[in-house]
Amino acid sequence: MIKKLCVIGAGTMGAGIAQVAVENGIETTLRDVEERFVKRGLDTIKSFVGKKLAKGKLNQADHDQILGRLKGVTDMEEAVAGADMVIEAVFEDLTLKRNVFEELDRVCPKETILCSNTSTLSISKIAAATKNPGRVIGTHFFSPAPLMRLVEVICGEQTEESVVSAALAFCEAVGKTPIRAKDVPGFIVNRFLCLLYNEAADQIFKGYATPRDIDLGLKLGSNHPMGPVEIMDMAGIDVVNNALNALYEMTGEERYKPSPLFAEMIRENRLGRKSGRGFYVYEV
Ligand SMILES: NC(=O)c1ccc[n+]([C@@H]2O[C@H](COP(=O)([O-])OP(=O)(O)OC[C@H]3O[C@@H](n4cnc5c(N)ncnc54)[C@H](O)[C@@H]3O)[C@@H](O)[C@H]2O)c1
Repeated sequence: MIKKLCVIGAGTMGAGIAQVAVENGIETTLRDVEERFVKRGLDTIKSFVGKKLAKGKLNQADHDQILGRLKGVTDMEEAVAGADMVIEAVFEDLTLKRNVFEELDRVCPKETILCSNTSTLSISKIAAATKNPGRVIGTHFFSPAPLMRLVEVICGEQTEESVVSAALAFCEAVGKTPIRAKDVPGFIVNRFLCLLYNEAADQIFKGYATPRDIDLGLKLGSNHPMGPVEIMDMAGIDVVNNALNALYEMTGEERYKPSPLFAEMIRENRLGRKSGRGFYVYEV
């Protein structure tokens, strides 16, 4: 059972995962490279947990206990001290992640489980930076981590079965549903989502359907809670285009080649909600 967790990288996902852990009784240390990044991560968590208190979803004692389990540091050795599991959530860059895992492998006792939250990179390639690849595994949380219920658990070529069991048990202990995915680009879910987004853009590009009709079609005809076009505007057109490009480069499969509409929209600064205009127009 995982009693103490360390999260490396206090950005969107690292802070979200740390919040999930402390809300589920696990003592957690959040580590980033600079004090200001650590503070930003801690402040995000405090703000979300504080809102639950304000709305009466938590009482003061529970609120204080949750935040009492959370600690932020910049020093790596202090971060991993006593941790049964480490989850890495730094930028999506293979060289950076391999450096982090090489360091984690050096500073953590060999029983510590080392997880990566990568969305696209190969777990085997990350694990190969360590001397103990058997203890490395992927735990891919979805954004926002406190709300999304799924975690994809991805084995590398050498991941030990005891590490898989511990990762699956951890996901369940923090209220998530794990699924096992192969170490292939995009794992399970992002391979589907990228196809859906590309198909929506292709239909709009060819004039087959409007954004509104695509969104209504999938919401009312297939029970999707949100339409793919509104999701793309929320995520950012540049972000979706990068994800498709990464999958296309890694798989070489034409179906992941981004629709030309994305490049056109990026040139026109139609990046979605964040720029006031994407497929739809927003008031900023
Ligand atoms: N944002 C998403 O929607 C999403 C969803 C699922 C998975 N992911 C994956 O999660 C990971 C993190 O993504 P994010 O969106 O949270 O990134 P982010 O940019 O919000 O945060 C990354 C953090 O890592 C820190 N960092 C960089 N090098 C570090 C180091 N050596 N040690 C400690 N911290 C370091 C940065 O300072 C930054 O605070 C990526 O692999 C990404 O692909 C992201």
